[in-house]
Amino acid sequence: MAHLCFSSKIFLDGGVPEETAEAKKLLGFLDGQTTNPTLIAKNLSSRISSSSHLTQKSALDEYKKIVRQMSKIIPKGSVSIQVFADQKTKAREMIKQARERRIWIPNSSIKIPCVAEGLKAGEILCKEMPLNFTLVFSQSQAAAVYEATKGTKYPVFVSPFVGRLDDRGEKGMDVIANIVKMYKSSDKHIEILTASVRNLDHLYCALQLKSDIITIPFKVFKEWASLGFKKPDKDYLYHKPELKDIPYRPDIQLGQPWQSYDLHHDLTDKGVTSFWTDWQGLFK
Ligand code: E4P
Repeated sequence: MAHLCFSSKIFLDGGVPEETAEAKKLLGFLDGQTTNPTLIAKNLSSRISSSSHLTQKSALDEYKKIVRQMSKIIPKGSVSIQVFADQKTKAREMIKQARERRIWIPNSSIKIPCVAEGLKAGEILCKEMPLNFTLVFSQSQAAAVYEATKGTKYPVFVSPFVGRLDDRGEKGMDVIANIVKMYKSSDKHIEILTASVRNLDHLYCALQLKSDIITIPFKVFKEWASLGFKKPDKDYLYHKPELKDIPYRPDIQLGQPWQSYDLHHDLTDKGVTSFWTDWQGLFK
C-alpha cells in the first residue's frame, strides 16, 4: 500500500499496546498515541484479577510498562501520559508527577488537565517537556493554554473533547473550528488535537478543518480502515442539525494574561473527577 498522507497527524486513543501495533500495521504508520487513566484502568482491570491486589505503585508500574510498549512500537511518535489529579490537586503535585512520567519513555508528552492549577504547572513544565492540555471544552480555555505556554521550545497540544459536548447536545466540532479560527493569528506554538472522537464524521470534519492532530479510538480506526482510510470529499458537509451550535466568540482574543480567561467548564470538572475515580476504582 502506498504511504497515505493526511493534512492532520493521526494518533490512536487507547490503553492497549496490541491495538497500537495493529493500528500502525493497518495504516502503515502512526504519528502518536494518547492514553488516559480511564483507558489504562480498563486495560488493567481486564487483565488483572481482583485477587492479585493492585497497589498504587504496582498499577503505576503497569501504566509505565504499557506506555513503554507503545513507545517501542512508535519510537518516532508522541505518546501522551496523564498526571493523576482530582479537584484539590495542586500545581506542585502535577509538576512532580509530570517530571516522573516524562522520563518513562523518550517520546512522552505529559497530559495535564485544563484547570487553573494545571495551567500554573504548565507554565513551568512547558520549558522542560512536551505537554498535552486535556479536558478542553471552550475557546476561552484554549486561549489560556496558548498564553500560559508562550515561548515554549517543546510541542504543546490542546485537546478539545468533541464527543463529550455532543453527548449533551452541543456541536463539539464547533469548538475545533472556533479554536482553529482564533489561533489563525497566533505564533503557531500550539497544535490542536481533536479528542473524544466517537465516529467517522468527527474524523472527516477534523480533517476538513485541518486539526493538527486527531486521536482516534480503535473501534473507529478499524471502521476507517475498512473504508480504505477514505478522506472527506471536497464538498463534505458536517451536518448535525440535532446538535446546538457553539458560536465563535470574537470577544475572546489572544494576547491577555492566561489568568484573565474563563477557565471554568463543568465538563472539565466532571472529567477530572471521572478520570480520578476510574483510577481509584482499581483499588476497591
Ligand atoms: C484523549 O486524549 C482523550 O483522553 C479521549 O479522547 C477521551 O475520549 P472519551 O470522551 O471518549 O472518553
